Amino acid sequence: MRADIVVLPGDGIGPEVAAAAVTVLKAVASRHGHSFTFTEHDIGGIAIDRHGEPLPEATRLACQQADAVLLGAVGGPKWSDPNAKVRPEQGLLAIRRALGLFANLRPVRPHPAALDASPIKAHLLAGVDILVVRELTGGIYFGDKTRTEDAASDLCRYSVAEIERVMRSAFRLAQGRRGKVTSVDKANVLETSRLWRDVATRIGREEFPEVALEHQLVDSMAMHLLAKPREYDVIVTENMFGDILTDEASMLAGSLGLLPSASLGLEGKVGIYEPIHGSAPDIAGKGIANPYATILSAAMLLRHSLGLEEEAQCIERAVEAALDAKAFTADLAGPAQALSTAQACDAVLEQLEAQGTVPALGE
Ligand code: IPM
Ligand code: MN
Repeated sequence: MRADIVVLPGDGIGPEVAAAAVTVLKAVASRHGHSFTFTEHDIGGIAIDRHGEPLPEATRLACQQADAVLLGAVGGPKWSDPNAKVRPEQGLLAIRRALGLFANLRPVRPHPAALDASPIKAHLLAGVDILVVRELTGGIYFGDKTRTEDAASDLCRYSVAEIERVMRSAFRLAQGRRGKVTSVDKANVLETSRLWRDVATRIGREEFPEVALEHQLVDSMAMHLLAKPREYDVIVTENMFGDILTDEASMLAGSLGLLPSASLGLEGKVGIYEPIHGSAPDIAGKGIANPYATILSAAMLLRHSLGLEEEAQCIERAVEAALDAKAFTADLAGPAQALSTAQACDAVLEQLEAQGTVPALGE
């Protein structure tokens, strides 16, 4: 198949990990007889430097016309002045909103070979397979902000329609998994959470009676996630809770550098695929960042935007095999020899090769 993929490398380690994922996508395309084009555009800090704004019009248009978007990361100390008028992160929020990407899928599956890298005891991690569905275009991230000399406010707002659509995504995903949804809120305090809980209960009862639904307060969720992670299947939550809980969940997998994500809108619309980690300015430019989260995001791109399930699994199996072979970057390596970003990418390419020849089309 043919596909136009827009690449937004962004800032910090973004360009390094995005380049690795593009290399892997090219290898998959040539092995499976697909023709992908890759077009780079600016977003975040680099876009502020070059165009004076974090989401230039050309970037937005290119994303809207693409079949899928692969993103590295945005942000960095250069643009972090607390009084700055424009920030790199605004570019990311604006493109999520412009493309209507309300459902952010963040799978968490600790890999056996990386268990030592996790601060959590190994016996708690065996068999953990969680999919966090984070609402991505509403809540406190997007409410009105005010700032005066001696006070500031961020409004948290959710409409019924916004909650319904992300809930349906979560329930549908649970149908294809173990049939359980945990909806996370702070309904003992927040009005938006009470609405969230009401809508979750109604959608569950009326539209997905065969899926088990439980409600969990976010503070105890933060604890249970580490104490009994095997209990969870699909976790659905609002924007900021999802942001925080998934950084926490990355510790189950051993490194923030292992978690991919897919940001999806309505069926048939373009999606953005990006690692959940940030731009890691402290290690940027050194060629040592872990590329696996972005490579696994590329697998999600093939699955969700291009419908190439088999190819997606090839990438996922290749990353697993690379981890099995202890092809670790510094975040995972411990005292062992750490690979560079390029070497880790090569390890995935080798594992793709090792999967053997691809049957010709039609076979
Ligand atoms: C993420 C990031 C972003 C977010 C930042 C960079 C705006 O932390 O994708 O998790 O908070 O959504
Ligand atoms: Mn985050």
